Amino acid sequence: MARSILVTGGAGFIGSNFVLRTAAASGVHVVTLDKLTYAGNVHNLATLRGSSEHTFVQGDIQDRELVRSLLRTYDIAAVVHFAAESHVDRSILGPEEFIRTNVGGTFALLEEAKTYWQSLSADGKNSFRFLHVSTDEVYGSLGPNDPAFTENTPYAPNSPYAASKASSDHLVRAYHHTYGLPTLTSNCSNNYGPYQFPEKLIPLTILNALNGKAIPVYGDGKNVRDWLYVEDHCDAISTILKLGKPGETYNVGGSSEKANIDVVNTICELMDELVPGSPSRPHKNLIKFVTDRPGHDRRYAVDASKLRRELGWQPQENFRSGIRKTIEWYLSHKEWLDSVVSGAYKDWIAAQYATR
Ligand code: NAD
Ligand code: TYD
Repeated sequence: MARSILVTGGAGFIGSNFVLRTAAASGVHVVTLDKLTYAGNVHNLATLRGSSEHTFVQGDIQDRELVRSLLRTYDIAAVVHFAAESHVDRSILGPEEFIRTNVGGTFALLEEAKTYWQSLSADGKNSFRFLHVSTDEVYGSLGPNDPAFTENTPYAPNSPYAASKASSDHLVRAYHHTYGLPTLTSNCSNNYGPYQFPEKLIPLTILNALNGKAIPVYGDGKNVRDWLYVEDHCDAISTILKLGKPGETYNVGGSSEKANIDVVNTICELMDELVPGSPSRPHKNLIKFVTDRPGHDRRYAVDASKLRRELGWQPQENFRSGIRKTIEWYLSHKEWLDSVVSGAYKDWIAAQYATR
């Protein structure tokens, strides 16, 4: 029988990229548990419909009975935990759901995973893994000349989102230290690629450029993020799951630091090239500097040398190749964009940008 893994948040951006590639690899049965919030889209997994390699369950990670029954029913060998509220701006306007899902939900999963793991045979216990997918934002903000975040950088989260993820990381650490649960934590930099909801910088810029709408750049546009193509992140997660040492954390990043304004300018140039008939050319004319995000972290940069050195991972895409692929994907999936840009999406954009 195929080995089963439980993937939480597998209908979201990174989760669906991970589920699609993992279910395609032979010998793994993926059980996706996703609440289908505004950010989750079951159509992302449409190509797996009817597949014996995949089971989709709509539900909340805080539903402990459901989690308990999935772990036992499918004889789960590993949990890969993506489910979270993930957008910093939403955490500023409404932090409560971030505490519920990111902290309470991770606690519920850990409790159920611990009880289940304790019931396994010695072999099952040895090979079981709980991989917690986290972010570089737990480390706080860097100055222009600071070295990149390593696994030893002290935690200093600044947004409610980052604080909720930091809390969940601490719980995962404690469940390994106290109970011996074989956990792994990955802290990754900003991702981009197919299926990202158009509230984050890169897909929002592509969508607005496509529709001839203003492209909002916060503050002076010089905040720096370290960008990684989503497939490279998924590959890192598979590598950590297979080779990572229980109890360890691994930083994941593409060594690709860019100021926001440079990211937006690159997208505008590629849109000029890829949509030559667009009435909005040059797309740079759509850029609008708007009021900054409160508490906006200035710079993130990830040192992923531990993952490269110890587990042999390295990214396949650079920013130039990855961003071109990403724009081409959005241009050829306009029906996906139309389907996620619903009434609720419009309400969010109105609330977020109206007074900026
Ligand atoms: P996303 O917002 O696109 O997807 C989150 C998914 O979780 C959605 O499908 C949603 O329906 C589901 N979900 C939310 N609450 C749930 C709950 N209570 N129960 C079950 N499912 C629930 O997020 P993403 O960008 O794919 O991020 C996935 C994970 O990776 C998150 O934990 C995030 O913190 C982390 N991460 C993201 C990035 C990034 O750049 N996007 C970078 C580093 C780490
Ligand atoms: P985002 O994609 O929200 O990711 P994060 O806040 O997790 O890094 O934002 C990336 C950067 O882009 C961040 O510095 C905020 C900035 N930004 C804008 O300038 N305009 C926007 O409309 C958005 C959504 C983000």
